[in-house]
Amino acid sequence: ESGLITLDPGFKNTGSTKSAITFLDGEKGILRYRGYSIEELAEKSSFIEVAYLLIYGALPSSEELTTFQNEIKYHTLVHEDIKKILEGFPSNAHPMGVLSSLVTALTAFYPESLDPNRSGDAVNLSIIRILAKMPTFAAWAYKNEVGHPVNYPDNRLDYCSNFLKMMFALPAAEYEVDPVVANALDKLLILHADHEQNCSTSTVRIVGSSQASLYASISAGINALWGPLHGGANSAVINMLENIRKDGGDTKKWMAKAKDKDDPFRLMGFGHRVYKNFDPRAKIIKKAADDVLDKLGVNDPILEIAKGLEREALEDEYFVERKLYPNVDFYSGIIYRALGIPVDMFTVMFALGRLPGWIAQWKEMRENHEPIGRPRQIYTGENLRPYVDMSKR
Ligand code: SDX
Repeated sequence: ESGLITLDPGFKNTGSTKSAITFLDGEKGILRYRGYSIEELAEKSSFIEVAYLLIYGALPSSEELTTFQNEIKYHTLVHEDIKKILEGFPSNAHPMGVLSSLVTALTAFYPESLDPNRSGDAVNLSIIRILAKMPTFAAWAYKNEVGHPVNYPDNRLDYCSNFLKMMFALPAAEYEVDPVVANALDKLLILHADHEQNCSTSTVRIVGSSQASLYASISAGINALWGPLHGGANSAVINMLENIRKDGGDTKKWMAKAKDKDDPFRLMGFGHRVYKNFDPRAKIIKKAADDVLDKLGVNDPILEIAKGLEREALEDEYFVERKLYPNVDFYSGIIYRALGIPVDMFTVMFALGRLPGWIAQWKEMRENHEPIGRPRQIYTGENLRPYVDMSKR
């Protein structure tokens, strides 16, 4: 410490705000959205209803939900000029980079969203627009990658079915959404919808604290989520499990690598800043993985490898003493893969799920007129020294 400054790298022991949105108890493995348990919401609710709950603070009545769904459907179409931006990307562009770029582009199509003093209704229109358009952007980012023509939204379908159709429909054949796939996706999006002050949500809040627009703040959140230590972990888990499978399934060797301080390799999908017990989402996703793969008749060898790793880690002193358990990213990729979603789209799926949480947290921060985020530092550089002319360097 120096004077009034308390150093807290990674903000491990710093509360950045007060929030009424999501409650976590890391010791007990509890997660609640607006007081409702994640277990009940995953079982009984829908992603659109959870989005409403997180953003507006209460479960919607039947007519409120219908109105919300219809408002979102009305805005799923994007300006044709978005295609010109999309076509500017090479096909090897990572979908997360395309997604954050298209979200930022919304500020150009809706410049009124830049006004920090807009009315509540105008802010709500921005909220509806990004909830409605991000699935279209996500599906279009995928189509750009695989070189297929984009699909327009189909407002006869529910949120997840519309997304799946935009992702996978091809002009050459009929596409029917499999309700098993749509339901599995809906549950996964619920489980990712908010998680209090994680890295990407803190990013959304701090960008929004300068009175930057909702779209600029969400775009920043997408970029923070991209990192392999955060949302990027779900893709990294699958790549890790595939490497272990190709390596003959020798989980002991990879566990040793993860514990070796000289080896930068970490067991992806394990560990958490807050959960020092099982991530409740991981429990639900692990069970859903068995159900969904069984229903789809998919037999993915990496599911058994994942379960083997989990069993070993739960008995391994290094992991036990550091309280490293599977987190939300450990099993989710196995389901995404079974749904036909390619691995570099997994973090895009995380972003689609987390969008309502980011919106709710940005809205709360702005309604509470929170101050601009501006942490301090402890200076460790040079003391005052005179300028040195080039001739003397
Ligand atoms: C998400 O914050 C959120 O809520 C995030 C999230 C959300 O919903 O928004 O839950 C989503 O991002 C989940 C986490 C996904 N990331 C991964 O699975 C990547 C692998 N995990 C780690 O990188 C790590 O566990 C973090 C990033 C998740 C947490 O890092 P911390 O809290 O900074 O912990 P740390 O790096 O200080 O680790 C503590 C100790 C260290 O060992 P020592 O130096 O004390 O000897 O545990 C070790 C670490 O080396 N460790 C691991 C490990 N995770 C931590 N060792 C091996 N494998 C791991 N996965």
